[in-house]
Amino acid sequence: MESDVTAPLCSFSDAEAVSIRAASIVAGLSKIAQDSKGRFTIAVSGGSTPLRFFELLGTSLRNDIEWARTEIFWADERCVPPEHKDSNYKSAQEALLSRVDIPRENVHRIRGEMPPEEGAREYEEELLRCFGSAGLPEFDLIILGVGEDGHTASLFPDAASLSEEKRFAVPVYAGKMQNWRITLTLPVLNNAATILFLVTGQKKADILREIYEDRKKGTKYPASLIKPVHGEAIWLVDREASSQLKGM
Ligand code: 6PG
Repeated sequence: MESDVTAPLCSFSDAEAVSIRAASIVAGLSKIAQDSKGRFTIAVSGGSTPLRFFELLGTSLRNDIEWARTEIFWADERCVPPEHKDSNYKSAQEALLSRVDIPRENVHRIRGEMPPEEGAREYEEELLRCFGSAGLPEFDLIILGVGEDGHTASLFPDAASLSEEKRFAVPVYAGKMQNWRITLTLPVLNNAATILFLVTGQKKADILREIYEDRKKGTKYPASLIKPVHGEAIWLVDREASSQLKGM
């Protein structure tokens, strides 16, 4: 079942269809932003779900995006060096950046190799440099995923970072994964023009149902707290992940 893309939640037959639709949305939004503002700013997430989407942007859709006027950032990063297997930068570099002609100065990675607090401050300075100091950075698009516990970016349930109101990025200790990460904060995420959630696979069915049930209250899960103040959040999910949403 393919549904209308403007709906807040669009269910597709499989993860490949989700990745194809996500990549085509990026191509479309990049043109709109570059035509109106001269550049397109996008922040991406880590994890396994966006990998195919990155590949498509780096291959079949590579010529549909003007990379010289595209600036890429990260919604979060694990505090590891850029060559480390767990690096979100590394996965995007291999699947996408190494395949496209994007100027080095347009790649704004979170320096996971630094001590967490210093890395977060350095990233905040980079955001101020790129977006100016007249308020919160406003990304044209942010790509987010959802963990089985309802986390998004590196905002975890019941974490103090969820109530951060001033900072753009903060270090967080991910208890379950036992590692430090740096994440954009809710005020920055919710200041984006468009948020695109990519959620696929059976293992996400329970949490997607829970988040959807909680959406009206929108308090239980970090992913439920994503409500762009002047933009839109679109959920691209596959049949497996949405298998428990029938009749909702
Ligand atoms: C990270 C991500 C994280 C991810 C979810 C889903 O650094 O791990 O930014 O928020 O989006 O954990 O991960 P999967 O796509 O691997 O299920």
